[in-house]
Amino acid sequence: MSEALIKHFATKLIAWHGKDGRQGLPWQSIRDPYAVWVSEIMLQQTQVATVLERYPRFMKRFPTVKKLAAAPLDDVLAEWAGLGYYTRARNLHACAKQVMEEFSGKFPADPLSLEQLKGIGRSTAGAIAAFAFHERAPILDANVKRILARLFGIEGAIQEKAVNDELWLLAKTLLPKNAKDMPVYTQALMDFGATWCTSRKPVCLSGEKKCPFEKECQANLSGQVLQLPRKVIKAKSPEFNCDLLLLRHGDSVLLQRRPDKAIWGGLWSLPESAWRAKEKNSNPSTNNLSVKELFQLVLPDEKSSSVFKSCTLIEQGLEIKHVFTHRRLWMQIWHVTSSLAVKFSGDDLKWIPLRQLGNYGLPQPIKLLLQGLSLARGDDLRN
Ligand code: ADE
Repeated sequence: MSEALIKHFATKLIAWHGKDGRQGLPWQSIRDPYAVWVSEIMLQQTQVATVLERYPRFMKRFPTVKKLAAAPLDDVLAEWAGLGYYTRARNLHACAKQVMEEFSGKFPADPLSLEQLKGIGRSTAGAIAAFAFHERAPILDANVKRILARLFGIEGAIQEKAVNDELWLLAKTLLPKNAKDMPVYTQALMDFGATWCTSRKPVCLSGEKKCPFEKECQANLSGQVLQLPRKVIKAKSPEFNCDLLLLRHGDSVLLQRRPDKAIWGGLWSLPESAWRAKEKNSNPSTNNLSVKELFQLVLPDEKSSSVFKSCTLIEQGLEIKHVFTHRRLWMQIWHVTSSLAVKFSGDDLKWIPLRQLGNYGLPQPIKLLLQGLSLARGDDLRN
């Protein structure tokens, strides 16, 4: 392993950032741990361009950890709408409460304590500690793993524990000596992975820009840049079908709060049947369901036989395909109208006027579907 590269890596990377890194992003140069934490969670699975739009809005709505902890979960989920991966929003809320209750409203500075908080993994803990507290804590997200595997020619699959441990050790060894350099160094590492040492189009292969590490990078020297880091080949994610009930009465639609642990947990969505594994080449949806059969599929716990009797019209609507991290789901939407505002048991089923949908956290594809309906009626659901 190159001693010289280890010794000079941080200095060279910081110099690169001064010239070619991303400057002036609103979460850079902040030291309020709450603001840093929100930005890191939002940036985890969301494009920088989207975060630029949504981060200031979130901070305006929930300016302190105290305000976030005191807000109802539904408000947080509604504010998160469209950002996806809603577990992040639920964890954000739970973590804010934890900080209030267990740390008297102050985020701890050391990465090990930060990692005890809900939704904060080891790399995010490192990023918060570095940005907000100038701690010499390493980060190791997918971008950083790629940079290190290439620079140091690490051949093992990065999912393997031993390889991962080696990468953490390396990430720690490379840190700048001076703690005050931690924020710019950490940002530089993130930016270098996101914009130059990218997975598919690293600058060293395009020839347009000169990578500062081209003479030292093991992958570049051996022509292995696109082959590193090595990946374990993933099986294609399984596919499922389900039926969704779009039940309308006047200008209201029936929504159901999803169980916390499920996909889209805690959000308001259309009542949904159990998922069926989609067989290869099968017809993606159920055809010709009666209203009764449909209700039995999507609301199996509604025992009252009269529930579906007021429902007169049924029409097979759009089929929506949604790709989750480990699953692909084909959702068949069934349009039904009811002549009565039928009463349902429990708090998790609600008739909601279309024009009030903006007050609820809805999964993005369902929001788009209902927006389509609402626009046809001349309402404006944007929030
Ligand atoms: N991804 C995660 N954290 C980030 C940050 N601070 N800047 C840019 N992208 C990021």
